[in-house]
Amino acid sequence: MIKRKNILKIAIDSPAAAGAGTLGKSLSKHYNLIYVDTGKIYRLIAYYKLKYPKKFGFKFIKKKIKNLKINDLDKKQLLSDEVGTEASNVAKVNKIRKLIHSFQINFAYNPPKKFKGSCLDGRDITYKIVPDADFKFFITANLKTRAMRRYKELKGLKKSISFKDVLKSIKKRDKNDYNRKVSPLKKTKDSLLINTSKLSKRACFLKIKKIIDKKIKINGNL
Ligand code: C5P
Repeated sequence: MIKRKNILKIAIDSPAAAGAGTLGKSLSKHYNLIYVDTGKIYRLIAYYKLKYPKKFGFKFIKKKIKNLKINDLDKKQLLSDEVGTEASNVAKVNKIRKLIHSFQINFAYNPPKKFKGSCLDGRDITYKIVPDADFKFFITANLKTRAMRRYKELKGLKKSISFKDVLKSIKKRDKNDYNRKVSPLKKTKDSLLINTSKLSKRACFLKIKKIIDKKIKINGNL
């Protein structure tokens, strides 16, 4: 695998709806990094499973992943709660995780030339996908705050869902993601814990920017 030298690599892990996506996007824009929301890859596989239940199988996914383009992850249909719940089921299957491993690694270590590095967020990024990232963050927020954020997001997309149902499905996903055997969500010792419950999007971005800029200044060429 080709690894570009002197690039900035940011790895973020977080439970659902903690604000990692918003943060990842704003950091990527600021530092000119490619941003990969790895949850969207699992969501895309889940979407195929729901849409083509008869065709769905290992061979089918393999073919889809082989032709996968980063823009495919922008599909609006991937944002529903149903797809999110199914994503946490397909994410338990190690064979599926292995299939998308190189897709993620490639973006992390060999981002397109116009970018100065990469920022990936997910559940196993800090310890499996980019274990040598320059910066590792574990982004979290309390359950109710996360459920409210996701509820508002889904309402904004005109999805008909109650707050109670969103809360229930986030709880279920937390349970799945933290307790599964393969690549569970966890905070590594070398990740910085950021609780965004009481932070605005801007405040969260500025807090992390300060941490990154300080280290870049000390280490110069990062
Ligand atoms: O981040 P998002 O909520 O879109 O992720 C959907 C699901 O995909 C998660 O609940 C998790 O089970 C799975 N996932 C994962 N590993 C990642 C990213 C997401 O297992 N790196």
